[in-house]
Amino acid sequence: MVRPAKTKQSATRRVPVSRLPWKLTSTSRQYTTRLGRVIGRVLRGGETIALYGPLGAGKTALVRGIAQGLGAPPTAVTSPTFVVIHEYQGRLPLAHVDLYRIGSLRELESTGLTEYFSGQTVTAIEWADRGLASLPQDRIEITLSHRAAQTRMIQLSVTGPKSHEVLTLVHEQYSLTDRVRRTATGPSTQ
Ligand SMILES: Nc1ncnc2c1ncn2[C@@H]1O[C@H](COP(=O)(O)OP(=O)(O)O)[C@@H](O)[C@H]1O
Ligand SMILES: [Mg+2]
Repeated sequence: MVRPAKTKQSATRRVPVSRLPWKLTSTSRQYTTRLGRVIGRVLRGGETIALYGPLGAGKTALVRGIAQGLGAPPTAVTSPTFVVIHEYQGRLPLAHVDLYRIGSLRELESTGLTEYFSGQTVTAIEWADRGLASLPQDRIEITLSHRAAQTRMIQLSVTGPKSHEVLTLVHEQYSLTDRVRRTATGPSTQ
């Protein structure tokens, strides 16, 4: 009996991060920022990165890395808690959003956030849970949580195919740089 060929190949090919969420333990702010840099380097444009986790979890540290990875000029990336949205220009435009103070749908709409969701702009959204209903369906989701003073658990997941492709690239590149870092003999450059 001839069995039909399995048709799962394209799906399996893009699933090195098959067991989502992909969990990492960050042992320093620099580690978290380095992960952000890897993300920034592989972004293709138009991605939404939803960030979850309490104050001090490292969301802004991660976005700082994303901005660096996109090649944005090295201005200080700070939490945009008071102005809600900061824009950075690198290889792609980056809108860094903080919804911490958003109390209602009307307030959310007044930020103009949804205008960033078409085109090439990458949006990185802290406290994304406060605007979930307005976010694009296809998102990279990153949850950070405290483990100890310098230690954070970082969980990465996706909600759609475009984000899955990007997270797969992040996973590949991250593993590569991690290997290089672990085998490097010189002093760390971080
Ligand atoms: N492993 C880690 N990853 C990220 N930040 C860390 C880590 N360990 C300690 N920190 C500290 O935690 C704080 C994180 O701040 P921030 O990135 O602004 O968090 P959030 O935006 O989630 O409120 C910084 O003071 C940073 O130095
Ligand atoms: Mg922040």
